[in-house]
Amino acid sequence: MHAILNKLRSLQSKVFLSALFSIAVPVAIAVTMPQSSAQSINDITLNVYKEVTCGCCVGWIAHMDDNGFASKVIHPKDIYSVKEDLGILPKWQSCHTAVSPEGYLFEGHVPARYVTQFLQAPPADALGLAAPGMPMGSPGMEIGDQFTPYDVILMMKDGSSKVYASIKSKADQ
Ligand code: CU
Ligand code: CU
Repeated sequence: MHAILNKLRSLQSKVFLSALFSIAVPVAIAVTMPQSSAQSINDITLNVYKEVTCGCCVGWIAHMDDNGFASKVIHPKDIYSVKEDLGILPKWQSCHTAVSPEGYLFEGHVPARYVTQFLQAPPADALGLAAPGMPMGSPGMEIGDQFTPYDVILMMKDGSSKVYASIKSKADQ
């Protein structure tokens, strides 16, 4: 009689343990997921190379700050040699160059949402993103309501590029 009772007890505790385990595992996954998925933008500091005299770069840095990034500003003697060393071709160039901790490049007035999108899933063999020139109405280039449509370009390591996003209006930024 006792033997049967003991067996039953041990069975009950096994059932209880497995039930507990099946609850505990999903909870543990749910708790650890946010940390193990794409890193929070709040953790990302960009090294931003700019010229001392350039003000629009400061506007872009403020826009990035507003969107959770941090920036470390660097004023090199010759910004164009920095761009050349990093592999930013003349056709992609703008004023400032931002470098992520992993070494991805963001050239010019690229809206924060595309920087975020890129960093969450960097395409293979990509150098980074560029908004060549100084698109009117892009982040840091606001002059009243003026806006000129522009493309955010995906720069590839082999020197090729493609359109990453077509910015048709301020709402696309
Ligand atoms: Cu600029
Ligand atoms: Cu600038």
